Amino acid sequence: MCGIAGYIGKKPAQNIVLDCLKKLEYRGYDSAGVGYLLNKGLYTVKVTGGVDNLKQALQKNATPASVMIGHTRWATHGKVCTKNAHPQISENKKIAVVHNGIIENFLQLKQTLYLDGINLVSDTDTEVIPNLIMQKLKGKAYTIKNVLNALNKVLPMLKGSFALCILIDNLNCLFIATKFSPLVIGKTNTGVMVASDIVGLPQKAQVYKLKDNTLGLVFKDGFKCYNFNLEPVILQKLDVKNNGLDTDINGFSSFMEKEINQSPSALLNTAQNILYNNALSYIPKNAIESAKTFFICACGTALHAGRVLGYLLQKYCGIFCVVDYASEFRYKNNFLDKHSFCIFISQSGETADTLGCLELAKQSGAFCLGITNVYTSRISNMVDYCLFTSAGTENSVASTKAYIAQLCSAFLLTEWISKVLGKNIDYSYKDLLDVALCLKEDYYLKLQPVVNAIKDLQSLYILGRDIDYITAQEGALKIKEVSYIHCEAMPLGELKHGSLALFNNTTYAIVLLTQKELTQKVISNIIEMQSRGAHIILITSQKVDIVVDFCIYINNKKDVFSPFVATKVLQQLALLLAKQKNLNVDKPRNLAKSVTVE
Ligand code: AGP
Repeated sequence: MCGIAGYIGKKPAQNIVLDCLKKLEYRGYDSAGVGYLLNKGLYTVKVTGGVDNLKQALQKNATPASVMIGHTRWATHGKVCTKNAHPQISENKKIAVVHNGIIENFLQLKQTLYLDGINLVSDTDTEVIPNLIMQKLKGKAYTIKNVLNALNKVLPMLKGSFALCILIDNLNCLFIATKFSPLVIGKTNTGVMVASDIVGLPQKAQVYKLKDNTLGLVFKDGFKCYNFNLEPVILQKLDVKNNGLDTDINGFSSFMEKEINQSPSALLNTAQNILYNNALSYIPKNAIESAKTFFICACGTALHAGRVLGYLLQKYCGIFCVVDYASEFRYKNNFLDKHSFCIFISQSGETADTLGCLELAKQSGAFCLGITNVYTSRISNMVDYCLFTSAGTENSVASTKAYIAQLCSAFLLTEWISKVLGKNIDYSYKDLLDVALCLKEDYYLKLQPVVNAIKDLQSLYILGRDIDYITAQEGALKIKEVSYIHCEAMPLGELKHGSLALFNNTTYAIVLLTQKELTQKVISNIIEMQSRGAHIILITSQKVDIVVDFCIYINNKKDVFSPFVATKVLQQLALLLAKQKNLNVDKPRNLAKSVTVE
């Protein structure tokens, strides 16, 4: 997943495009580059590393160009180097392209270009695009009409996903195209900008979102869009009150620390907005009552929220849900049909694998419910109905407050479905609002001795039973993705089935104990591990009379609410470990915030 940008207008483009790319950096930060038109020439500047490196490079060679495209890359094809940075250009250096997505058939296309005597120089999939356009323009003048016709031939050749912004030497406009990858247009009184995400657009821009399979021309005072048959298309203007990225770190050491601190308000705002707007009542009751199968699909942290939702629906509503990673679910025999009730959870609303499952569910006639944090996202617009979390912008790659908000929506959705099905439930939304108070507590001081003990480990374990095993999975993901320590989540009851062989006096295990009725079982498991010499870090809401190496007590209000506070402890532990190792907490290596490619 990458971020693409483009600007054409009355003002010099450089700082406008750089500002946009900086806001899109959550989508990838391996390398960056710009392409621009100046005095009948097409130029590119490309660097490895983030947008700040690009800014430095451009300051040395500042340009007054007013037409520019830009890119911030998460490497999909080809290692991180300037050759593989975007823009990718045609062999004749007259066409430059920035791309977000994956061209799945790029090797075949590369072969056809090679057989036509066109040699590519990079390892990227993207480089085929400018060269295919060049090939279709062979013997023709580079006019807008001929370029549109060339694109009309090239775009259907590309299998996979793409959001493109294209510069053609000597043509004072941008060409754009999109298929299964987000692209928005922002029109201001000084020019027109395109970007992968609304957050990259100027605050006061009039915002338009391209639908899939759209091709467009962007001029300094407007744009024209077409479908892939070159029939004119009118874009819907989005009512976006504030598309600004919350870029103020407010004195915290990182966005992750800030966003963990915002978790109580994320819960309260989500509950408030869902309840105040009566949002749950818009879910058709007959879709719930007539559903024969329930599916929950998501990725990463969102999948863990899905597992909690599946647990709650089973516990309180007698519903069995298939809960699966979207990347797994979409390639299985999935039994989706018009009697299926499918739930897609996604903070960004742009995750490619989750979108892929949503496409399958819609084709099957299933009822599709979304739970997202971004109103204008693709998932929000594709589902039959979307429940919005109100976590606010989440900048850090590691999802924290958004997870808490997803949990809140899971508990509220379960309460609603239990009412529709006439089931009893032992919590109310008022109890849920009390959890926000429990979330106010910080654990940094209590966790520091734990950090000192485990910071140099290569691996550790997080174990729990029942709903604690789900929290263990989320905690393991946080620790892995920000501190780079391998962390394995395991059901405590599984230890004896093999994993206990790994345990000795160098082993550290974090154990979660929040379910009262499982206390004795968990204590037995702790004793089993201690008898092999393991060091135990216990996170518990129960009064226990066992001696462990470290014990962090938490208050959950009710046992079933344990995922909220137990997860916060693990989020703060992951943050402290990353800070202790001087890692880039908000932009961990190899990752990006929104995974818009498979
Ligand atoms: C979570 O910390 C990670 N950033 C990642 O697992 C993330 O949850 C996953 O990519 C799903 O993203 P989404 O919620 O935007 O779909």
